[in-house]
Amino acid sequence: EEDKTLPEAVKIKLDDTDPKKVKLGKDDVKGTRVRVFGRVHRERKQKMNTFLTLKDGYGYMQVLLQGDLAKTYDILTLTRETSMEILGELKEVPEGAKAPNDRELHADYFKIHDGWKAAGGDDAITNRVSKDTEHATLLDLRHLTLRGETASKVMIVRDAVEYAFNQAYRELRLRKVSPPALVQTQVEGGATLFKLPYYNEDAYLTQSSQLYLETCLPSMGDVYCIEKSFRAEKSLTRRHLAEYTHIEAELDFITFPDLLDHLEQIMCRVIEITMEDPVVKQSILDLNPEFQMPERPFKRMRYSEAIDWLIEHNIPNEDGEPHKFGDDIAEAAERRMTDIINRPIFLTHFPVEIKAFYMQKDKEDPRTTESVDCLMPGVGEIVGGSMRMDNLEELMAAFAREKLDPAPYFWYTDQRKYGSSPHGGYGLGLERFLAWLCKQHTVRDCCLYPRYFGRCKP
Ligand code: 4AD
Repeated sequence: EEDKTLPEAVKIKLDDTDPKKVKLGKDDVKGTRVRVFGRVHRERKQKMNTFLTLKDGYGYMQVLLQGDLAKTYDILTLTRETSMEILGELKEVPEGAKAPNDRELHADYFKIHDGWKAAGGDDAITNRVSKDTEHATLLDLRHLTLRGETASKVMIVRDAVEYAFNQAYRELRLRKVSPPALVQTQVEGGATLFKLPYYNEDAYLTQSSQLYLETCLPSMGDVYCIEKSFRAEKSLTRRHLAEYTHIEAELDFITFPDLLDHLEQIMCRVIEITMEDPVVKQSILDLNPEFQMPERPFKRMRYSEAIDWLIEHNIPNEDGEPHKFGDDIAEAAERRMTDIINRPIFLTHFPVEIKAFYMQKDKEDPRTTESVDCLMPGVGEIVGGSMRMDNLEELMAAFAREKLDPAPYFWYTDQRKYGSSPHGGYGLGLERFLAWLCKQHTVRDCCLYPRYFGRCKP
């Protein structure tokens, strides 16, 4: 029973340390009586007392249940993840003891939500998801895995990064737009298109919003979007998803060096903004203790130099032979190179044949394009971008070269008819950016419910 003679309790979140709201009890000072809600993250039963760590998504709080409270049936049989309301006095932790925010809640009353304790025994969350559980099972139980400390931190960083992109783009005067997900044109090749029936026609899930962003330049100036892109990737790698969050931007009246400078600026500014929040910064450092701001300027390397580098370092191509000009640099080789160089790299000037149809050719070396991939240690490519072909005839020739019918692209080619401009842009995979920032082995752990070859649940 709640003791109604005690002072009124103040409702707070578990991370609330506002001194105007909560005072910590000490020897001669009474602490604020608070009311908190959360789920049991950890419990430690002693002879006389029980310690709980409560969590609510904002933070953690240590709770001390003493005497009769600790001996109640509910506390003796308490299970992790049980949802509780707890009232009590907030006090400093004793010297030498450790607890979140150096405080502990001395409970005088608790209630279990709906009287329903979380499943225990074999069905206890700790038996279903633990450090030893296979990765596939963890993904089947993603709804439970998400409650763990690592997954929570990654998701909290993700929220901050996505917000930071919005802020950084606004600072640079880019406007946000929202292109369609259902489309009838491809951007990055037919092999990875998801096709679906659309009334009496066929449609695809978009691979990239780039072409639509290009159409916004004349009316809105520089633009960006944060939307889902879809790729029917048939290989299982640690950096490919079927559905991912694509951060794309398009800039008008720029040169290729402008594009590279912008990319470097946006990535560094986003990290700076993200790190401004102490909780987010701590989450990043917990996940990636060696994290350091990338050194500027980023290393710039031409594709042809990368080929020479791979030959010098005896890193073969996919056929096991030395790399030669024109080879696609495969994931494994790219990652080895990035890990050895161990700093962000702008890899530029890829050959025309291995890049998308819309890329502008380099005037000095028309075998190559004004293209860039940004490579990060541990992950490899996290950004792909380029200047766009802005001459109508050249673009039509590129459609022909790729054996693409230009008819469905009338809205795209029209851009070249009505006031074309030198412009360029890029796409950044949010999950790959996070895998790098939070040092995660796979992009699958950097989204809520990953979709990839063979998985479309939960
Ligand atoms: O290099 P990509 O295919 O480039 C484009 O789609 C351009 N149209 C973007 C643009 O210029 N607006 O993809 C861009 C980025 C990659 O660098 C990678 O980070 C991410 O999107 N990405 C994927 N991330 C997860 N899973 C996949 N299957 C991905 N495919 C690409």
